[in-house]
Parts: sequence; structure tokens; C-alpha cells
Amino acid sequence: MQLVLLGPPGAGKGTQAQRLSDRYGIPQISTGDILREHVQEGTMLGIKARAYMDRGEYVPDDVMVEMVMDRLDNPDADGGFILDGFPRTVPQAHALERALERAARPLSAVVKFDISDDMAVRRLSNRWGCPLCKRTYNLEFKPPAQDKVCDADGTGLERRADDEELTVRRRLAVYSEQMAPLERFYEERGLFRDVDAQALEELVATRTIEALKGLEP
Ligand code: AP5
Repeated sequence: MQLVLLGPPGAGKGTQAQRLSDRYGIPQISTGDILREHVQEGTMLGIKARAYMDRGEYVPDDVMVEMVMDRLDNPDADGGFILDGFPRTVPQAHALERALERAARPLSAVVKFDISDDMAVRRLSNRWGCPLCKRTYNLEFKPPAQDKVCDADGTGLERRADDEELTVRRRLAVYSEQMAPLERFYEERGLFRDVDAQALEELVATRTIEALKGLEP
């Protein structure tokens, strides 16, 4: 199964991608996570990307396409994958389509998670993550047992720099500018599946599985 997950910041793409990855045994490929690793390691790509990410803007298409194509060449993606956060623009979608056509493994579906802007801000202002194991928590919806400490390894939790409200609002604006043409692109190809993500995590997971009915391996 080859899946793309779309949705605004805070919609729960990462959360649901992890659950789908566990369920279907295929890797979650999160462009945000890959970029943050580059930033942390101080690579050229990371230095270039950071300026865009800190402003809540998209990293240029050519950088993103090259990065994702490299990742898809990894053998762990041969049996399927879940793209979390890519494509976000029509040029990215065209590049992905061409690459998958060449590999004779077209997309199975594009799932779009919808939530209101206010819910996105609420979720992201409460998101904390473990820098060691990368587990994500939410102080309101999914708190750790001990305040701001990872349940799995006892590491102190951290917030993402781009989760400040002003940056989140900018990210939401960029998302809504780019989403309409991308939505049309996938609607024309009959791949689009909408999921109402403004509900508790378990219910969103059930809705997602329902939306993917008939595609399971
Ligand atoms: P990225 O890291 O992908 O950020 P994003 O798309 O803005 O998405 P988030 O990670 O913020 O949210 P999410 O939907 O994954 O939600 P999560 O599951 O964590 O990208 C960061 C930046 O990188 C971009 O701004 C851009 O600069 C750059 N970039 C990345 N890809 C790019 C591309 N293709 N092109 C150009 N630039 C690119 O959940 C959020 C919180 O809510 C968590 O605390 C979670 O526990 C909680 N939660 C989840 N689901 C629920 C629920 N149902 N109920 C209650 N709480 C929930």
C-alpha cells in the first residue's frame, strides 16, 4: 500500500501515520522529521531548510523532491510506505507521480485529515516531544505520566520551535494557500479520501481504517 497523508499542522498526520505503520508494517516517511534531523546534524540541507521552517514557510520544491526520492529508494519502502507531509504542492505531487509511474507502483490513496484552525493551535500549543525516542505527547490530550518527562526513557520533553502560536498561524495560512490545487490534483485522479480528524485519536484511527477499506494488503 502506497499512502499519502495530508492535513494542516496539528491535524494528527504523524500520530495516525505511526498507527498505520504499526498496523500494516510499512514505513512512515515524515518529511518534517527528516528535515529536523538534518537541522540537528547541521548538514547543508538542514542549514538551508531551517530558515524556512522557523518562519513557518515551505522548503523549496527541488530540495524536498530530491530528499524524498532518495528516501523512497531505501529498500524498506519496497513493500509500501506512508508519506506524512509530502507532497504539499502540485509540483511535488507531479514529481512523486512520475517517480511512482517509473517504478510501476502507483499511489493507493491520499488521505486528508481536517480540523479547524483553532483546534490546530490548541493541539500544537500543548505538543511536547521526546528528543531521544521521538515519542509525541500532548499535555491536554495525551499527557505523560510525569510532567514533561518521557514515559519510555525518562528524558525531559521539549517543544518544537515552530509550535509558537504566531508561527502556527503562518503555517496554517501557507497550508490553506497550497491545499486547494493539490486537492484538485488528487480528486481528478480519484485518490482522495477525507477524514474528519476533529475527534479523539482512537476515533480518528477508526475513521482512517474505514476510509482505507478495500486497500488493505
Ligand atoms: P511537519 O513536521 O510535517 O509539520 P506539519 O505538517 O505542520 O505537521 P505537524 O507535525 O505539526 O502536525 P501533525 O499533523 O503531524 O500532528 P501530530 O500527529 O504531531 O513540517 C514542519 C516544516 O517542515 C513545515 O512547516 C515546512 O517548513 C517543512 N516541510 C515539511 N514537509 C515539507 C514539504 N513537503 N514541502 C515543503 N516544506 C516541508 O499531532 C499534533 C499534536 O496533537 C500532538 O501533541 C498529538 O499528540 C496531538 N493529537 C494528534 N491527534 C490528536 C487527536 N485526534 N486528538 C487530540 N490530540 C491529538
